[in-house]
Amino acid sequence: MKYRHAFHAGNFADVHKHVALLALLRAMQRKDKGLFFLDTHAGRGRYALGSGDARTSGEAQHGALAVLAAQRTARNADPTVAGAPELADYAGVVEAWRRRADARHDYPGSAVLAAELLRPQDRGIAVETQPAEFEALRRTLGRVARVTAEHGDGWLRLRALLPPAERRGLLLIDPPYEDTKGDFRAGAGAVHEALARFATGVIALWYPVKDARDTDLWLAALARGLHRPALAAELWIHPPDSRAGLNGSGLVVVNPPYQWAERCAAWQPALLRALGAESSGGTRVVSLAGENR
Ligand SMILES: C[S@@+](CC[C@H](N)C(=O)[O-])C[C@H]1O[C@@H](n2cnc3c(N)ncnc32)[C@H](O)[C@@H]1O
Repeated sequence: MKYRHAFHAGNFADVHKHVALLALLRAMQRKDKGLFFLDTHAGRGRYALGSGDARTSGEAQHGALAVLAAQRTARNADPTVAGAPELADYAGVVEAWRRRADARHDYPGSAVLAAELLRPQDRGIAVETQPAEFEALRRTLGRVARVTAEHGDGWLRLRALLPPAERRGLLLIDPPYEDTKGDFRAGAGAVHEALARFATGVIALWYPVKDARDTDLWLAALARGLHRPALAAELWIHPPDSRAGLNGSGLVVVNPPYQWAERCAAWQPALLRALGAESSGGTRVVSLAGENR
């Protein structure tokens, strides 16, 4: 297995996914009842941006670091103009973690961001398969975090852990797409399997946008037989048919919270502006199935 997330940590796709992750958790936490969070492909939880793979790639410079700087400028210039509240919340959570964890030059992964938000009544499990990545994740989450690190196969754990005792939950499915076709197939299959066990679970499945035609075919196939409301939210920094490689970031959300489509339609363009990609990129929110309120 060659995939190393450190190379991409904090890039525009990570930011897109992490803004959505925090917004989903916030929306679910409007209710006091405890929730279950499962991160099937968790990564190492903490990425040093100033050294190793992240420094070599420099991707975070045009992603998280650009967004954090834009939020800081907006706050200082005019505290009322912070773009969309979801972006301000994302920047606030990342910066608070960096201060508290003495991690000024690091970027938090999905499990750490979720751990920042989980309340005493919530519970999280983060699964990682690569031994070194898992060890780092376990150390980063520590003993007191509300998210427990598990060494294993996220696809198998997804099946085994559903339905959760809480009967409310968010499942983040974020495979590496190293085997691109295999992960697209497995991701769509996992959504249907998860729903068969836990019909009311909120599912967030990340996918890369390379060629829009392929994406649309895959989304249509995924939507077939889906009996729950579902939306796809996408942000791309290059035209979705360019040959740049990773043109955009997409997230299928099944059983989205109230007004998820409207909120995505507000924060995605704000994020595109913060990334400085307005002229080359775009955003969209597509309804896949059911009634999206
Ligand atoms: C895209 S990265 C995860 C990033 C992370 N979710 C975040 O947002 O910070 C994908 C991770 O999945 C891990 N992985 C690959 N196959 C896996 C599997 N079957 N089960 C669990 N983890 C897996 C990889 O080692 C890699 O760390």
